[in-house]
Order: sequence, then structure tokens, then C-alpha cells
Amino acid sequence: MREIQDTWAKRAKSEGYRSRAAYKLIDINKKFKLIEQSKLIIELGSAPGGWSQVIGKKKQKGSKCVAIDILAMEHVANIEFTQCDIFSNDFEELTSSYVGNVDLILSDMSVNLSGIKLVDDESNKELNLKCLDVAKRLLSDKGALLIKAFNNNTFKSVRSEFESYFETVYVEKPPASKTSSAEVYLLGLIPK
Ligand SMILES: C[S@@+](CC[C@H](N)C(=O)[O-])C[C@H]1O[C@@H](n2cnc3c(N)ncnc32)[C@H](O)[C@@H]1O
Repeated sequence: MREIQDTWAKRAKSEGYRSRAAYKLIDINKKFKLIEQSKLIIELGSAPGGWSQVIGKKKQKGSKCVAIDILAMEHVANIEFTQCDIFSNDFEELTSSYVGNVDLILSDMSVNLSGIKLVDDESNKELNLKCLDVAKRLLSDKGALLIKAFNNNTFKSVRSEFESYFETVYVEKPPASKTSSAEVYLLGLIPK
């Protein structure tokens, strides 16, 4: 197993990706062509920039991607980065001109783990639901939201919130995601 995981990290290094996470987005995007179909993309939790590199390469000419992280991120070609917390007023202000116009919101965020499973699961659920709130505020009527979620006790309720809001919901487990991890990706297509 360790060997397989190291293979993704080695591949990322040799292909110039800043993170092995890049392959998770490449895999999901191959199936749904989310990036190619989007004129305005918002990426939440983008540092160190693996997903941003994928978006920067695949997005259509003339389309725009705004990436956000609480941490600093080195420049990625074709990506406009802002350092801020998605729970802050700065984030509200930054995105206020995009209300109802965003085609795709992506989030690979998770919380810093405290080590107490119940607390961590609840905090990640809160983060997932924040992404859904952001989507409700910003997405266009044909928009899509892709988030990292965790298949644990809280997953059923997060998924059901997605199903209440989107016409179609998919649960994806890309090959680059550790099989030992509860990590999955939830994709919601087209607000109802
Ligand atoms: C797993 S990393 C993302 C990796 C990225 N997809 C890549 O391929 O390089 C998750 C990121 O989410 C960010 N993050 C977590 N909570 C955040 C918040 N409230 N606001 C902004 N960024 C946040 C973290 O700082 C971290 O850089």
C-alpha cells in the first residue's frame, strides 16, 4: 500500500505537480469535464497548488479561476490567488461580485485534526456545509460543486443536504485517494 501511495508522490514530482492531490482532480475531471465547461471557477483551499495547476492547464481560454487559501500559495499560471479564510468577511467581500455567476466551485479542504475523532468529524462536516452555503450564494443555475468529504458518521447528513440542493449527486473515490482513508469526493450538479 505504502508503495502505491509513494508512486503517486513520485509521479507528481516527476510531472511537476505540487501535490499528489492533483491526480484526484485529474481523474474526476476526466469523467465529468467540469473545468473545460466552466467560465468562472472558484477553488477553496488551494495551497500548495496541485489542483490549481490542473485547472490552470485545462481551463478554456478567457475563463477565470479565483483560488483561495488561508495559507500563502506560490503563483500558478492562469490562476488569481487570494489569501483568506473562507469563514471571513474578506471572503464575502472578495466573492460579492460573483453572486449567481460561478460555474464551478471546488474544495479540497479539510480541517486541522485535533485527534479527537468526534470533534474532527463534526468540524469537517461544518466545513462541508460551509462549502454548500458558498455554492448556494455563488453558483449559476447550471453550476457544480465538488468537495472533499469523509465517509463517516456525518456523511449521510452531508450527502442528504447535497441531494436536497442539487439535481444529481455523485460520490467519487479517485485512485490517488488512499484506500485506507474515509476521504471521498462529493459532486453536486445543477441546483434544483
Ligand atoms: C489538502 S490541502 C489542498 C491541496 C490542494 N488541492 C492541492 O492539490 O495542492 C487543503 C487546504 O485547505 C486550506 N483550508 C482549510 N481550511 C480553510 C479555510 N477555512 N479557508 C481557506 N483555506 C482553508 C488549508 O490551508 C490547505 O492548504
